[in-house]
Amino acid sequence: MSDDQTKAVEEAAKNPKNLGEMEGADAVGTVGRSDCGDMLRMWVKFKEENGRKVIDRATFQTFGCQTAIAVASVATEMIRGKTSAEALSMSGEQLSSPLGPLPPMKIHCAQLVEDALKSALDPAAVKPAAPAIASGPTLADQITPSGKVKINLLPKSGSA
Ligand code: FES
Repeated sequence: MSDDQTKAVEEAAKNPKNLGEMEGADAVGTVGRSDCGDMLRMWVKFKEENGRKVIDRATFQTFGCQTAIAVASVATEMIRGKTSAEALSMSGEQLSSPLGPLPPMKIHCAQLVEDALKSALDPAAVKPAAPAIASGPTLADQITPSGKVKINLLPKSGSA
């Protein structure tokens, strides 16, 4: 991330717009990412404008990183005046565009915002952030040690 982009993200995260719950929202969506543990909720309110139902206002809350806060802040501004279909067609990249291109390790933060918006407007449009993991009989059965990972198995209860 360039210095300008870092500043833009920091600035947007320091003074986020549209932060907080919205009373009387028409739609609410909440998503979480299993890879980083962050969560984001978005509230959306519509209004009629020139015979079209458009987004009047959107707000958000998050247990998320600085980038997620910054993207949610600019995204909730960008979607004002758009129809549900127009907002649904926007990617995380488009929703974060006022901040400049995000580095690869921060792209999922914009995806979190995109998914929260989709969750509010059309829950069926949300793609799972990570494929479901098939359950094994125990957690230890599912862990495949590699590299420097060292696993210490505890003695079975009653065998100590
Ligand atoms: Fe999880 Fe940014 S690190 S949303």
